Amino acid sequence: MAGTLTPLPESRLGSTLRRDSWWAEIVPVFVLLGGFGLYATWRAFEGNYYSWGPYLSPFYSPLIDPQHHWWPYSPALLILLGPLGFRATCYYYRKAYYRAFFLDPPACAVGEFKRKYWGETSFPFILQNAHRYFFYLAVLFLCFLWYDAVRSFSFDGQFGIGVGSLVLTLNVTLLSFYTFSCHSLRHLAGGKVDCFSCATFGRSRFEAWRISTFLNERHMLFAWSSLISVGFADFYVRMVACGAFHDLRLL
Ligand code: FES
Repeated sequence: MAGTLTPLPESRLGSTLRRDSWWAEIVPVFVLLGGFGLYATWRAFEGNYYSWGPYLSPFYSPLIDPQHHWWPYSPALLILLGPLGFRATCYYYRKAYYRAFFLDPPACAVGEFKRKYWGETSFPFILQNAHRYFFYLAVLFLCFLWYDAVRSFSFDGQFGIGVGSLVLTLNVTLLSFYTFSCHSLRHLAGGKVDCFSCATFGRSRFEAWRISTFLNERHMLFAWSSLISVGFADFYVRMVACGAFHDLRLL
């Protein structure tokens, strides 16, 4: 049976036929991502309270030239591009911040600004294509963060466990899930392959693709949980380092 055609409202910012609270999805993104951006920027420039005992803030790892022999500013600024570039070019975050910050569009089937749309085919957004290279860099950063997590269990050469050890270990675990659920890795494992059994290392590639697909389906969850954990890990180290509270030794 033929349905009745409903004319779409004039396309302008926010116009829509949707009756649900479509804006409820972008408000938390705006608050959380915006809040994290402000906090991380302040901490990166602060250049202080980034380590205590065996703990090192993930915002400052790897720690380069902390004595300021040749770099007069905060050591975090030397390494900022790696994690920032990885998150900023992430396929999931792109969707999230295009909607929440650029309102481009604010949500599916919701009107946006009228303008020529070039997508990611021209400068500056064409740079988003560098995501795969940031992925390689992120794996390198993970090595440093795992080293920091292991080191956080060593108190004056003795094995011990503090709350900070658990915070740093949980953080790097979530960051690993986030990194290894990346779309680029899934494409590396199984992209451009029509037939796994015919491809070189087909069996291994299929297994890698299968695992990365499992993780990739949860990429949004890992993106948010790792964002919160990395912010909290830095906050924890800062609070302990500045003496606002004491690290609790569990063992
Ligand atoms: Fe999100 Fe690669 S797609 S980290």
